[in-house]
Amino acid sequence: MPHKPGELDTTHAPRLSAHSPVISSVIEMRLNRRQFLLAGATVSMAASLGLSGCDREQPAAVPSEPLQNTPSRFPFTELKRATGGDHAVAAEYRADVLIRWGDPLFADSPPFDPHNLTAESQARQFGYNNDFLGFVPLPTGADGVERGLLCVNHESASSNLMFADFSWITSGWITEQTCGVEMAAHGGSVVEIARVDGVWRVVTGSAFNRRILGHGTPMQLTGPATGHERLRTAVDPTGTQVNGMINNCAGGITAWQTWLSGEENFNGSFIGEVPDDHPEARNHGLYGLPGTFYQWGQWIADFDLSREPRSPNRYGWIVEIDPLNPASVPKKRTALGRFKHEGAESVVAKNGRIVVYMGDDQKFEHVYKFVSRDVFNSADRNANLDILDHGTLYAARFDADGRVYWLPLVHGEGPLTSANDFNDQGDVLIETRRAADLLGATPMDRPEDVQASPTTGKVYVVLTNNDERESDQIDAANPRAANVFGHIIEIAEDGDDHTATQGRWEILVRCGDPTNDDAGAVWNAATTSDGWFGSPDNIAFDSTGRMWIATDGNDGCDGLWGVETEGPLRGTGKALYRAPDGAEVCGPCFTPDGLSLFLAIQHPGDAMTATFDDPETRWPDFVDGKPPRPSVVVLQPLNKGQA
Ligand code: FEO
Ligand code: CA
Ligand code: CA
Ligand code: CA
Repeated sequence: MPHKPGELDTTHAPRLSAHSPVISSVIEMRLNRRQFLLAGATVSMAASLGLSGCDREQPAAVPSEPLQNTPSRFPFTELKRATGGDHAVAAEYRADVLIRWGDPLFADSPPFDPHNLTAESQARQFGYNNDFLGFVPLPTGADGVERGLLCVNHESASSNLMFADFSWITSGWITEQTCGVEMAAHGGSVVEIARVDGVWRVVTGSAFNRRILGHGTPMQLTGPATGHERLRTAVDPTGTQVNGMINNCAGGITAWQTWLSGEENFNGSFIGEVPDDHPEARNHGLYGLPGTFYQWGQWIADFDLSREPRSPNRYGWIVEIDPLNPASVPKKRTALGRFKHEGAESVVAKNGRIVVYMGDDQKFEHVYKFVSRDVFNSADRNANLDILDHGTLYAARFDADGRVYWLPLVHGEGPLTSANDFNDQGDVLIETRRAADLLGATPMDRPEDVQASPTTGKVYVVLTNNDERESDQIDAANPRAANVFGHIIEIAEDGDDHTATQGRWEILVRCGDPTNDDAGAVWNAATTSDGWFGSPDNIAFDSTGRMWIATDGNDGCDGLWGVETEGPLRGTGKALYRAPDGAEVCGPCFTPDGLSLFLAIQHPGDAMTATFDDPETRWPDFVDGKPPRPSVVVLQPLNKGQA
């Protein structure tokens, strides 16, 4: 049997008591966050498999004669596998830093001062650890300048790199102010950008610009679970309002140009315990609560289970935000389920319904899709603004015969009854993981981004890795034990209908080094020694339907790769960009013309012992005494024909 979901929360370190925080353990968690993922899983396993580093020379796989004669859909000169303190891109592209942590968004934003961080200043500046990027075009003005709104998730705060005086945590002196900075560094940003003389720039002070905070931005709970007793707290006895969004990872932009933002590792933002016989104890256990990564609960009851045992039920949702209306109230769409949401990429199905594909990023968790009850109205944007409040949530079961079945999470059907403590649809949605388990959904190798190709309609499920799958736990859709490199599954829904409840699936690539037999990697033979990758995380398609994959944990050299999905080169990877040391690449996002590619570079310079004074790199500023800064980068081809 698979591990029970939630028993081992691999995204965050072990539990601590809220009332007796073991500060050394907190420090260890803060310092080692990346290493729990990277050194503990991918790198150590990679080492055991004989993989030594990014800059090693390896023989390229020799493509067969027909493959050598097949033109690549990615004509640029492939980037070499390497590491370094600076980022790098293929020779045919330029890479520009667009916006950095701490940059001003508003006319009154204080200048970035890393030696004097305050919650108030952070709330007026670009947040930390940018992840999802969505681009909402604005009309081109009379000046001919391209404009758009960049929607950005701020997933986490790397306190060891943010704070010049890290002694506040090493001494156990975690203050209300430092917690305030961390909470303000979370959430999201809406940033107007304009392309002037070929270079994208931030429009500081734009009326569209907005900061959404981890704590301090009112939001509504909407959909079937709204007002549920299990969502009520002292500060919100109605169960309808939440004061922010936290740990937002990937997301999506809808057909009506709203931004869906996935609350992922929310468990890490809670401290405190509930008694074992508490009604929420089983539920909290399935979500790895409390994660005790941040200490906000020392000051704010919302983040302390012992004071607000229901509060975690108000996090772990998909949040819908209207970037075109800066005064709009973000809405947590409960119909889309509660789990560690990675992304929420959506399509308009042939019958007009909205289908949102989603992953629950934890080992042995599930893949989901939501199908709206109502159809998309292309003539009236406002008619779509609450379309995600009504519909059916499904979890995926991948069978060995290549069929995938979408299992509806509907109260009263199958095991989802009061016999299993599901008294209404609100219970089903609040405890989505337990409901999916009971239905027999397939436990997967950490589902990250899930997205449909705009040209073929095929759906790609990115599974980043799972070093805990044992040999007796493998199945057709998760075929490797100790899967430290991840894989990508392709789904073809029956009838090319995204609302279908069945389809076919196959594995596109098994990631890792194809020249190492122990890795069990499977790529097209045309893939070079620079073209393979591990730990895929985010996926995007450009305007011509080419697939791009960003990695998080690729043996210490993360980047962006193009992947062929059709023809003789199907399953070939090709490297375009690599991140600076310590960083992962997130949020690949194209402008509609496909000529500008935005990338979110998260936690540059982070490492086991990295601090403000001693980071792995000071990218992108490279100024002594200044810390590295998570930033958004724009790639543009120098010559359209070579992109
Ligand atoms: Fe935040 Fe699943 O990556
Ligand atoms: Ca991710
Ligand atoms: Ca995506
Ligand atoms: Ca990740």
